[in-house]
Amino acid sequence: MPIIEPLLNENRIFHPSVRFAEDASISSMSVYHTLCQEAAQDSSGFWARLAREQLYWKKAFTKVLDESNAPFYKWFEDGITNVAYNCLDRHIENGHGDKTAIIFESDDGKIKRYSYHALYLRVCKVANGLRSMGIGKGDRVVIYMPVSVEAVIAMQACARIGAIHSVVFAGFSARSLYERIVDLEAVLIITADEQVRGGKSLSLKAIVDEALSMDRRQLACHVLVYQRTGAEINWHPTRDSWFHELEAKQVDICEPEWVGAEHPLFVLYTSGSTGKPKGVQHATAGYLLWSIVTMKWVFDIKANDIFWCTADIGWITGHSYGVYGPLAAGTTTFLFEGTPTYPDAGRFWDIIARHKISIFYTAPTVIRSLIKATNTDETIHPYRYDLSSLRLLGSVGEPINPEAWMWYYQQVGRERCPIVDTFWQTETGGHMIAPLPGATPLVPGSCTLPLPGIVAAIVDEFGHDLAAGQGGILVIKRPWPAMIRTLWGDPERFKQVYFPEELGGRFYLAGDGAICSKETGYFMITGRVDDLLNVSGHRMGTMEIESVLVAHPLVAEAAVVSRPDEITGEAIVAFVVLKRACPNGEEAQRLANTLREWVGKELSLIAKPKEIRFGDNLPKTRSGKIMRRLLRALARGEPITQDTSTLDNPTVLEQLKHAQ
Ligand code: PRX
Repeated sequence: MPIIEPLLNENRIFHPSVRFAEDASISSMSVYHTLCQEAAQDSSGFWARLAREQLYWKKAFTKVLDESNAPFYKWFEDGITNVAYNCLDRHIENGHGDKTAIIFESDDGKIKRYSYHALYLRVCKVANGLRSMGIGKGDRVVIYMPVSVEAVIAMQACARIGAIHSVVFAGFSARSLYERIVDLEAVLIITADEQVRGGKSLSLKAIVDEALSMDRRQLACHVLVYQRTGAEINWHPTRDSWFHELEAKQVDICEPEWVGAEHPLFVLYTSGSTGKPKGVQHATAGYLLWSIVTMKWVFDIKANDIFWCTADIGWITGHSYGVYGPLAAGTTTFLFEGTPTYPDAGRFWDIIARHKISIFYTAPTVIRSLIKATNTDETIHPYRYDLSSLRLLGSVGEPINPEAWMWYYQQVGRERCPIVDTFWQTETGGHMIAPLPGATPLVPGSCTLPLPGIVAAIVDEFGHDLAAGQGGILVIKRPWPAMIRTLWGDPERFKQVYFPEELGGRFYLAGDGAICSKETGYFMITGRVDDLLNVSGHRMGTMEIESVLVAHPLVAEAAVVSRPDEITGEAIVAFVVLKRACPNGEEAQRLANTLREWVGKELSLIAKPKEIRFGDNLPKTRSGKIMRRLLRALARGEPITQDTSTLDNPTVLEQLKHAQ
C-alpha cells in the first residue's frame, strides 16, 4: 500500500451562516447526528422510511435489504415503480406541471425552456416511438449524444419503457463506442448529426457509422438521429431514422412500464485497472432514492432553486445531478451544451448571472482553469458579473486544493455561499462523503463527513480499522441503496474488484486512499490507490491508454504514469519504446504528436498524453517487470532515491530523464 501523506495543512474552518442554517433541510450538526443514529440503530427502518417518503411506489415494498447473496445486495426488491413516473408524472399530479424542468443553453447562446408538463409530453412520445421500434423492458439502448434536452428525453423515455440505457460520453472514439455496443448487445443507438462545443462542430453520426462498420457480429442495431445542426450526414435507410420524425408520429400518452425496484436502470462504463472498461450497473429504486435524498441533504434544494451541474450527461455526475436527481426532486435544472471558455472564459459567470443560477456544481479543474484565465484577463473576473443569485457551490470529481477552494469561496461565492466538496464515484450512484451546507463546518480540501446511512471507514490492507490520523484505504462497510449492483455481464469481476477477499469480502473497496483528521474526524481523499488516473476529474486507466499506444504499428512498448498538473490535477505522461530506433529532436516531436492524435482517435480526446518520452527501453527488473515507481519519479522530475541496482537496464533511466 502506498504511503499516504495528507494533502494539505489547512486549519481554517468556515461555519454555515445563521441565515443559511435557518432555512436548510438539515439545519445543525445535531440533526445530522440524529439521522446518523437513526441509521445506525435501525438501518432497515431508516432506509425504508426514506424510500416511502421520497419515491412513488405503484406497489409498496415489504422487504428492505436482502443480503442473502452478498455482495449482490437487493433493495426494496418486491416494490414496483418507474423512474420516469417519479421524475415527471408525479410532479404534474401534484400541481407542478407548469414549473420549469429544464433550461437549456446551446453553445451559441440559444435558450430553450421546458416545463415539467412539456417535457413529459415529449418523453411520452419518444417512449412510444421506441416501443413502436420493438424496444421494451430490458433492451439496451446506447445514447451517444451531446448535452441536450433530447438526451434527457432519450434517457427518460428508456426509463419509462424499462429499457436499460447506457450513455457513452460523446468524446469517446468509434472503437470505445463499438466495444460498449458489443458488450451490451445494444439494439439501438441514439445519437445526433453533430455536436457543437466551443464554436466547433463534430459529426457524432460519422463516429457511430464508423463504430458500426467495425461490427463483425452483425448486431441488429438501429440508429436514431437527433438533428442538432442539419449538417449533411451519411444515411443508411434500413438502419437509420430521425428522432424528430419518430417523435412526431406518436401520441403523447404512454403508460409507464412498471418495473421491480431492482430492475436495471442504466449501465455506465468507467475505467478500471485492466484495459477493459467496466459496465457499472445501477438499479431503479435505490439509485433514484439516493439521488433525491442527496439533492435535499447536500444541495439543500428548495422550490425556487435553479440548479446547474456542469458535468456532461456522459458521466455519472451528469446522470445523478444533471438529470435524475434534479428531475426526481422537482427542481429546475440548467443544461449547457458548450465549454467554459467559449466565447471567453467568463461564459460560466455570464450564464449564472443571466439565468439566476442559485446552486452551481462543478469540478476543481474548471475552477483552476478559470483562475488561470482570470490572471491573464481581468475582464472575465467573476467580480465583473452579478453572481448574487448564487447561494450554494459544489465541487466534485477530484480533490480540490485549498487555493482553488478559497478562490471559489471568495471570488465566486463572495463568502456567502457554502461549498460542498462531494466525494463519490460512478459505482456509488450518489454522494458518499460530503458536507451538509446548513450544518457542517467546512475545511478547505476536505469532503468532511460520511452522509447519514453511509458507513465509511479507513482500513489497512487486511481490512482492520486504522486510527484517526493514519492514512489507509477507504471502504464502505455496509451496503447502501444506490450502490453498484454488478458489472454488466461480469459478476465475478464485480466481486473481485469491489469486495475483495483480502478485506473479508464484505467491505466495498472504493479504490481511494483517505485519511481522517484526529481533531475533527473529517475525511480527506488522498487519491487512487490503484492504476487509475484522474485527469480534469475524468477517471482513466493507465492500462487502457497503454493498450491503445501499443496498438499503434510503430510502438513496441508503452508505460503510462501521471504527474501533478496545476490545472488538470494530474497529467498523463507516456514512456514509449518504438519498434525502430529511438527518435530525437524534431522527429520525436512529430511522432509524439502522431501518437497523441492516435490516442485521441482510438480511445478518447481526454486520454491524450500531455507528454510522451521515447527511450530504447523501459526500466525493468530482471524478471521483466516495468518499474512504474521510477517512471513516476522521472515524470515528476523527482530525484531517484530508490536502489536501482536490481534493474536490468539502469542506463535507460538517464535517457528517459532527458528525453522529450
Ligand atoms: O478518486 C476519486 C475521485 O474520482 C473518483 C471517481 O471517479 P468517477 O467514478 O469518474 O466519478 C467522478 C464523479 C463522482 C474517486 O474514486 N473523486 C471524486 N470526487 C472526489 C474525488 N476525489 C477527491 N474529492 C472528491 N470530492
